[in-house]
Amino acid sequence: MPESRPTAIPAAIKTVDELHAAPEEYRLAIRKIVRSHAVNELYGAQVFDEPAIALAPTPYAKFLTCRVAMEEYGHHVRFRELGEQIGVPAAELTPEGRRKLSIFGFPLESWEEFCVIKLLADLAEILQVEDLLHCTFHPLRNLARMTMPEERFHAQFGKDFCVELCRTAEGRARVQAAIDRIFPELPAFFGQSGSANNALYRKYGIKQRSNEEMRADYIARARALVEEQLQLKLPAVAQAA
Ligand SMILES: [Fe+2]
Ligand SMILES: [Fe+2]
Repeated sequence: MPESRPTAIPAAIKTVDELHAAPEEYRLAIRKIVRSHAVNELYGAQVFDEPAIALAPTPYAKFLTCRVAMEEYGHHVRFRELGEQIGVPAAELTPEGRRKLSIFGFPLESWEEFCVIKLLADLAEILQVEDLLHCTFHPLRNLARMTMPEERFHAQFGKDFCVELCRTAEGRARVQAAIDRIFPELPAFFGQSGSANNALYRKYGIKQRSNEEMRADYIARARALVEEQLQLKLPAVAQAA
């Protein structure tokens, strides 16, 4: 009796070369996720991290902000290199002409806003990278492993400066106002609930969790940071995007 062969789901694709032999659907899913990271890393570096160098209040804060900006551009460069290796057209690896996430339309005006973006938007990035740490496409998994310590540094940078700002009543009020403006934009970063792309990522072990699971985890972790550690208030947001 002939063996029935369902579409093979690769347990591990160890190299870019091995990817060429993977199912078309898998290759497309990998291209899509690498492209989205390359675009978002560059977008963030351009609209937040680089302008924040001018907003940083002291030479030490500027030094650390330069490091953050350098690393965010570096993340783009790494994802872009991988994108080029797996055949994503160069024009699709930069934000120009692509639909942007609403958070990137947020006009950065103050140092407090930047600190809150690092505290809360980089936490969202940490969750995304966490999911890739076990990715079946090993070049992407390795990239996630290199990126993770830097994303943790960015979130810690945000937390440390928010704690410092919160030492005065005026600073606390400014950090709270920034949280109230920025946080509502962030749950949408995890994509639509019931997303077909996400179902494909999970089918192939590219990601582990659904968008809605990640969003719920994110909101819980953001709440713990803002309410337990900073003793501020996290604004209410809808769970479903
Ligand atoms: Fe990054
Ligand atoms: Fe970051």
